[in-house]
Amino acid sequence: MKDVLVLGIESSCDETACAVVKNGREVLSDVIASQADFHEQFGGVVPELASRMHVDAVYPAISKALLDANCTLEDIDCVAVTYGPGLVGALLVGLSAAKGLCEVTGLPLVGVHHLKGHIAANYLCFPELEPPFLCLCVSGGNTMIVRVDSYTEMEILGRTRDDAAGEAIDKIARVIGLGYPGGPKMDKAGQGGDTTRYQFAKTHMTDTLDFSFSGIKTSALNLINGMKQKGEEIDVKDFTASYQQNIADILLSNTLKAAETTGLDRICLAGGVSANSFLRTTFDKAAEEKGLKLYYPSLRLCTDNGAMIASAGYFEYINGTRNGLDLNACPSLKL
Ligand code: KG4
Repeated sequence: MKDVLVLGIESSCDETACAVVKNGREVLSDVIASQADFHEQFGGVVPELASRMHVDAVYPAISKALLDANCTLEDIDCVAVTYGPGLVGALLVGLSAAKGLCEVTGLPLVGVHHLKGHIAANYLCFPELEPPFLCLCVSGGNTMIVRVDSYTEMEILGRTRDDAAGEAIDKIARVIGLGYPGGPKMDKAGQGGDTTRYQFAKTHMTDTLDFSFSGIKTSALNLINGMKQKGEEIDVKDFTASYQQNIADILLSNTLKAAETTGLDRICLAGGVSANSFLRTTFDKAAEEKGLKLYYPSLRLCTDNGAMIASAGYFEYINGTRNGLDLNACPSLKL
């Protein structure tokens, strides 16, 4: 069978990313232009500035991805692009670039759901991995347990009812002065810390695989404010270690419940928060104890990248998905 090369474009938040992937599994190039250092001064992503920076970065990223893969647009079979969820202005930049390429070359366009891309990052790291499996998707804006039935069909079994795990981490990182981006900074700050020193109130929900992170976030905020009022020093290393461990425990508990109810014994992690070392260690231990097979992407492929979009796009493409040039950005696209 002829190889299929997909050009993947991602611009849903603050990374302009483009990659060429062969047959959905092999990364030929992977270009990421991150704006994180720029947005740090504002303590978070400024949507309007993100869109403008994507405009400057998108064509150079596409050119570099083709160059690094040693190919031209003539070798490409399909252009895959994130069309939601994400920041609308940011999404529109990648989408317009993809549509422009398809218009002039006649290449087919495939719109990709950002989270399907995160899930597909696992296909790039584990060539033997095939559905069905369970996937815990944990990113800045989403926390959900997904039953992945096939490369293109999936069902959400549980989701957060309020904050995403990434939001709960980023917010507390900001309050204790770690800055932006909070996740990686908190991960680093908690290394070697005592994970049991600080106690947080957690929301317990029975008979559901849904999550809630607003309770633990509020509990952490109250603890910080209480200590400040009493003039007590927060031990940042122990505090962040305890907080991240508690979040990892909440995520693990429902994922194990989902494995039990579905009978699926393969679990993938996906999304930016899956880079978290507390989460990975917690899941590693549990998988070993329970005899589950655990997969998580390399650190580079956990956060936003074009290769995961090209991989998810490949599976949509061979399944017959084609989008028209009227495809619009959907900031709250459902899975
Ligand atoms: O998946 P992603 O790159 O973008 C979205 O689609 O949302 O996820 C971004 C989230 C942010 O909340 C960021 O703080 C978090 O992933 N993150 C981490 C780590 N690296 C990134 N959270 C905890 N530990 C990390 N090492």
